Amino acid sequence: MASKIKKIGLLTAGGDCPGLNAVIRAATRAALNNGIEVIGYKFGYKGLYLNDFEELTKARVSGIQHLGGTILYSSNKDNLFEYDVEIDGKTVMKDVSDVAIKNMKKENVDALIIIGGDGTLTSARDFARKGVKVIGVPKTIDNDLAVTDVTFGFNSAINVARDALDRLHTTAESHHRIMILEVMGRNAGWIALHSGIAGSADVILIPEIPYDIKKIAARIKEREKRGKLFSIIAVAEGAIPVGGDVVVSKIVKDSPDPIRLGGIGNVLAIQLEDLIQKHEVRATILGHLQRGGSPSTFDRILATRYGVKAIELLLDKRYGNMVTINGDSMSYEHLENIIGRPKNVNPEGELVKTARSIGITFGD
Ligand code: F6P
Repeated sequence: MASKIKKIGLLTAGGDCPGLNAVIRAATRAALNNGIEVIGYKFGYKGLYLNDFEELTKARVSGIQHLGGTILYSSNKDNLFEYDVEIDGKTVMKDVSDVAIKNMKKENVDALIIIGGDGTLTSARDFARKGVKVIGVPKTIDNDLAVTDVTFGFNSAINVARDALDRLHTTAESHHRIMILEVMGRNAGWIALHSGIAGSADVILIPEIPYDIKKIAARIKEREKRGKLFSIIAVAEGAIPVGGDVVVSKIVKDSPDPIRLGGIGNVLAIQLEDLIQKHEVRATILGHLQRGGSPSTFDRILATRYGVKAIELLLDKRYGNMVTINGDSMSYEHLENIIGRPKNVNPEGELVKTARSIGITFGD
């Protein structure tokens, strides 16, 4: 018979997002209430490798629900299955996952709660394959993880983006300008689509629907004819022109997912100003503002549900699973069925159709 879980380790890895602390708090409280000790590894998998952790008590997780970021810190670079180590003065890539497992044994840690996105959960799956008792909790502002309807952090991010669009609206109208807001989301258009609809954008550009710049210009001119001398464009950082490619801002070499998107807002501004000579076109890149700050009410509740469900799965010995939400039900799915299956906006879906019905153009 499998032995009872007495002690667990939590870690947060990948890009941070609002709600991480709410998950840490909820999972810690639920675990402690079930007689399970909790430690938190620092800086994601790096802490597991270096055995760098702190004890999580009720006092330690008190007063953190409303805080953005993560009290455990995070890193999106440390993949312990392909880890940069120095041997004889040279940096070589090595699988150091056994060091992590030894560290767990040394501290009597029976299981891990791993909170992260696609890259982080890939390693969670790999640890599960090695027999480590793991529960995954999905996290990303991008909302691009398969199997779960919504990830915490997304709602907070779209609130920030919607607020930015509201603010751009008033200044765009005052100056008769075309204002472009570039939002995050990697290769998924969820943030642009949701914030664009809520923020009354005239044009929404998402990776799932390649755009034609001439069609965007035509829409702006058509608005002009109706006396609307300003326009608002919400563009996802991963949006692509028909037959073209994404705009890359940076390559982070030691990251499992090295491509950082960004810059399409400025590219569009230059191209559009050429086509629409009457108006100035300005771009704002919202960037990491979407990831910082307090989680929304929705995200605090969602994160709490994710954290509590993670402990429930542990108590039920459902190791190797990730917590999910489907409709209003918390559930789970095996980590093997999640990795490498991004969730994208359906170009034929109800939300895109709704946007089109009220006159929003996707530049196609
Ligand atoms: O996945 C979350 C996210 O914020 C993406 O929307 C964005 O493309 C990326 O992370 C930015 O990563 P970094 O924090 O490394 O710049």
